[in-house]
Amino acid sequence: MTSAKTNGTVLIVEDFKDTADIICRLLKKKNYRPLVAYSLSEAREKLGEPLDVAVLDINLPDGNGLDFLQELKALNRELPVIMLTAYTELDNAIKSLRQGADDFITKPFENDYLIHSIARALEKKHLTDRLRQSEKFRLLGELAAGVAHDFNNLLSSISAHLYLLKREIKEGGCQGAQHIKTMEMAIDDGAAIVSRLNSMGKKSADDRQFIDFNNLVEDTILMTRPKWDHEQRRKGRKINLESQLAPPKTVYINPSDVREVLTNLIFNAIDAMPKGGTITIKTENMDDAVKCMVSDTGIGMTPEVKERIFDPFFTTKGQGTGIGLSVSYAIVANHGGTLTVESVPGEGSTFTITLPLNTGDALKNFQ
Ligand SMILES: Nc1ncnc2c1ncn2[C@@H]1O[C@H](COP(=O)(O)OP(=O)(O)OP(=O)(O)O)[C@@H](O)[C@H]1O
Ligand SMILES: [Mg+2]
Repeated sequence: MTSAKTNGTVLIVEDFKDTADIICRLLKKKNYRPLVAYSLSEAREKLGEPLDVAVLDINLPDGNGLDFLQELKALNRELPVIMLTAYTELDNAIKSLRQGADDFITKPFENDYLIHSIARALEKKHLTDRLRQSEKFRLLGELAAGVAHDFNNLLSSISAHLYLLKREIKEGGCQGAQHIKTMEMAIDDGAAIVSRLNSMGKKSADDRQFIDFNNLVEDTILMTRPKWDHEQRRKGRKINLESQLAPPKTVYINPSDVREVLTNLIFNAIDAMPKGGTITIKTENMDDAVKCMVSDTGIGMTPEVKERIFDPFFTTKGQGTGIGLSVSYAIVANHGGTLTVESVPGEGSTFTITLPLNTGDALKNFQ
């Protein structure tokens, strides 16, 4: 058992018993836990133990330490390995460094030097572990923020349609079915996010479908209408949304993902027009792709802002999370497409989504 109090477990693979004993004593004195193997076969038996460092001789009775170095690195790339070599074997020492050894020590060695080398290797390992841990937390944070952002968009759409539905029921209007259909679509998109999360780590089942791109654009306009129309009117400003759609074209895409991209672009356009204005959504058919432009007549962006808008967490809004565009960029890229922007400060911005028609092939080229 590794005691919590030791500085770490060190595997020593050395066939000279005297040398192995000296290293063992040294390590114990410095509060390390030594595990000794006098041959490669003995060393292999000890690989089930949690190791922190390995000290490895090159010439062993049943094989070459350099081969074992490769085995160790294949099992655990992060395990620091220090090679022990005779002074006459410098060639091997250099070879071992090329194969991923962290250090080499020539025999006879100075005790302090060996201990120092082990301590340095351990320190490096701890730093790498800590870095990896913090990277995991960062990725988890990004993931959580992305999911929260998507759900927030969907919930705001559902609650706005619900509000309108209640009002119309009260007033005896007859638009109920449309609101319910739109809410169902938002709920389906939420369920798609959950199933995407569930399938993370597994090979994701492809949710792509052949779909008329214009229908998707129209659905998104409807879904976001409470936000760009009713909510803005309540705030005393007017936003027009005009669509100019090219003849219908079938694309092979994940509809809930692409709806999410359009929703993000529409919400950003609304935020960019605090005094109201016009959002224009245009589609264009090309030979091998469809294009969709979302333009606004809002505040536009300075070149410095434009440079950073696709960075995760970049936001210029007090309430923003800075997730919308980075997620959108990734979704479009995953479809083998591009998301670009043109903007003039004080005049407005145009975001252009380009999606290849045969995204299956496009994706193969992309990967
Ligand atoms: N249409 C636009 N006009 C002007 N600036 C824009 C526009 N769209 C995006 N931006 C700029 O890009 C930044 C990043 O946008 P992004 O959608 O990623 O995050 P956000 O809107 O700030 O927050 P959220 O995560 O809630 O969407 C915005 O804060 C804004 O500065
Ligand atoms: Mg946004």
